[in-house]
Amino acid sequence: MDYKVYVTRRIPDAGLDVLRREYRNIQVNPTNHRLSRKELLEKIAGVNGILCMLNDSIDAALMDAASDLKGIANYAVGYNNIDVAEATRRGIPVSNTPDVLTDATADLAWALLMAVARRIVEGDSLTRRGDFKGWAPMLLLGSEIVGRTLGIVGAGRIGTTMALRSKGFNMDVLYHSRRRSKILEAELGARKVDKDNLIEESDFISLHLPLAEETRHFISAREFKKMKRTAYLINTSRGPVVDEAALVDALRVGQIAGAGLDVYEDEPELHPGLVGLRNVVLAPHVGSATVETRTKMSVMAAENLVAMLKDERPQNCVNLQVFK
Ligand code: GLV
Ligand code: GLV
Repeated sequence: MDYKVYVTRRIPDAGLDVLRREYRNIQVNPTNHRLSRKELLEKIAGVNGILCMLNDSIDAALMDAASDLKGIANYAVGYNNIDVAEATRRGIPVSNTPDVLTDATADLAWALLMAVARRIVEGDSLTRRGDFKGWAPMLLLGSEIVGRTLGIVGAGRIGTTMALRSKGFNMDVLYHSRRRSKILEAELGARKVDKDNLIEESDFISLHLPLAEETRHFISAREFKKMKRTAYLINTSRGPVVDEAALVDALRVGQIAGAGLDVYEDEPELHPGLVGLRNVVLAPHVGSATVETRTKMSVMAAENLVAMLKDERPQNCVNLQVFK
């Protein structure tokens, strides 16, 4: 069958090649920006397969517009942008890109942790401004990482990988997760604790939760009050897991020492208070942004889509029920 496929943003060629080997009718958003809702609705009218980004909202109205849709391949591990329940009701499989981005995202969490603890971005600005006047005993003192307590929220693939990288820093590791992690306990002697214990005892808290109703504002004013004043919060998961207004207040009054963020509550908008604060490092949602990882994601998403168009189970289906 020559199905119609729409790819909502330019992705690495490796993935497009997978699609082009199978189908002639492949359209890729030629612009360098995310399509508006109206544009997306127009573009996907009548397509059979859609390869979409984490900032495309794929809901019932979109599924109506693509009336003969056989598969939705998300170019991300998180899939809170897709109404999966609705897709399942319609018998449409949905896929994501797990595993291939685990290392890159864990690395970025560490990059943010170290950048904020050692004030790298402040130091960079100071140096560029010409304000580096020579070594000084009290210049940009940060916080040590070795021997501190790392609190991992969500011991899935990325949270586990983030935690395992703490070995070189001899950290005490706490984790909060639905399931017990034998790997973390065996490899790091990590302790599974309840949420409040993790919040109160950690020096660095790193969030690795998927976004869902029950994880929205998982960290809010109540939690900031319980955190140590010397603690740091790292978020590479999804913005709304943190109450961003409460975070700004906590950073402003010194209720916590700092934060490293890759995701925002209302991306790409930032809470207006964030940019004026020095004790936060802001990355533009680049957790999986390495050449190697994005190339693998493109192939994985494309292969998932090809399988769905062939009525086969994709490798990475998030609603396997549709195949029952
Ligand atoms: C990135 O945020 C992803 O979910 O892949
Ligand atoms: C996401 O892939 C996770 O399990 O952390």
